[in-house]
Amino acid sequence: MSFRIMGTGFYVPDKVITNDDLSKMVDTSDEWIMQRVGVRERRVSVDMTASDMAAAAAEKALASSGLSADKLDMIIAASISSNDLCPTVAGYVQMKIGASCPSFDVNSACSGFIFALDTAVSFMERGCAENILVIGAERLSKIVDWTDRSTCVIFGDGAGAFVISKGDGYLSSKLYTAGGNDIIEIPNYAGESPFYNGIKLPPYIFMQGQETFKFAVNKIVSDIKEVTEKAGLSIDDIDYIVPHQANVRIIDYASKRLKVPKEKFYVNIHKYGNTSSASVPIAFSELAESGRLKRGDIVAMCAFGGGLSSAACIIKY
Ligand code: ACO
Repeated sequence: MSFRIMGTGFYVPDKVITNDDLSKMVDTSDEWIMQRVGVRERRVSVDMTASDMAAAAAEKALASSGLSADKLDMIIAASISSNDLCPTVAGYVQMKIGASCPSFDVNSACSGFIFALDTAVSFMERGCAENILVIGAERLSKIVDWTDRSTCVIFGDGAGAFVISKGDGYLSSKLYTAGGNDIIEIPNYAGESPFYNGIKLPPYIFMQGQETFKFAVNKIVSDIKEVTEKAGLSIDDIDYIVPHQANVRIIDYASKRLKVPKEKFYVNIHKYGNTSSASVPIAFSELAESGRLKRGDIVAMCAFGGGLSSAACIIKY
């Protein structure tokens, strides 16, 4: 038993920040960002939290699924940038869309959405749930240091959501964690205890770009190969690859190493930047909305990032 994707949806805030806008804030240029990362512009939330954006994406996914919120048995959200630890993003979404099911968050940074999908499958396999709303939602603009040109040019805000129901469309998956904070760290607010005797780090994304890049290019290739093999497929059977939108050079590299034409990779990093756990569901939803994706198509999804973590899966749409 696995799932079928019944509906998808995404939401990005209206405010567009272009590379030219950023070049007025830090020492950078459109040319550098396009060449080294592939982002032209990103969306930034002015007043919506990650859970507000999650609810907006969830409403769209529910509308496209034809299911109403009261039919949901569970809501699982992935986020690293929620306003509150409690209520969770999923808990806020439950309230906003009028659902009444168990709702909780998972955190595996940029790989979080695929970790959440895989978690959803486990509940379905135990017979605990038939319809699950799975969300990736991020307001990274509030944990980005806007004076640090090596990170602020990369990230953006947004949310994506799937409504999944029991079915036979989840063909294989792989989750990976190499715990440690030496390459990527996103410290949390340390609080104000009078007994606290540690170092308080600013709650911003720290990333060793080149080390992350090396990890990403190795994992994107090996993870896709592994899930393809596990699904009993060959790489040519894959109709689309929806990768985490972290750097277009990582996607170019994967295309060459896997010998999969670039046209099979769905790329929207130029419009939204890296939206962490929201990146894969936003890209998938946009691909579905474009009308290019057909029922029965085989799609690989893959992500990598903080944790360090990576995840990949193969679905039949
Ligand atoms: N504009 C202009 N110059 C810049 C900028 C900028 N925005 N940022 C860095 N530079 C400079 C550096 O200072 C350096 O200058 P120097 O040679 O004089 O010292 C030079 O450009 C090269 O810097 P690198 O860090 O080597 O640049 P690189 O080509 O590696 O690109 C980047 C940096 C974009 C971060 C890249 O390493 C990358 O994409 N890494 C992977 C990121 C990723 O996959 N993240 C996913 C996980 S994120 C998460 O989980 C939250």
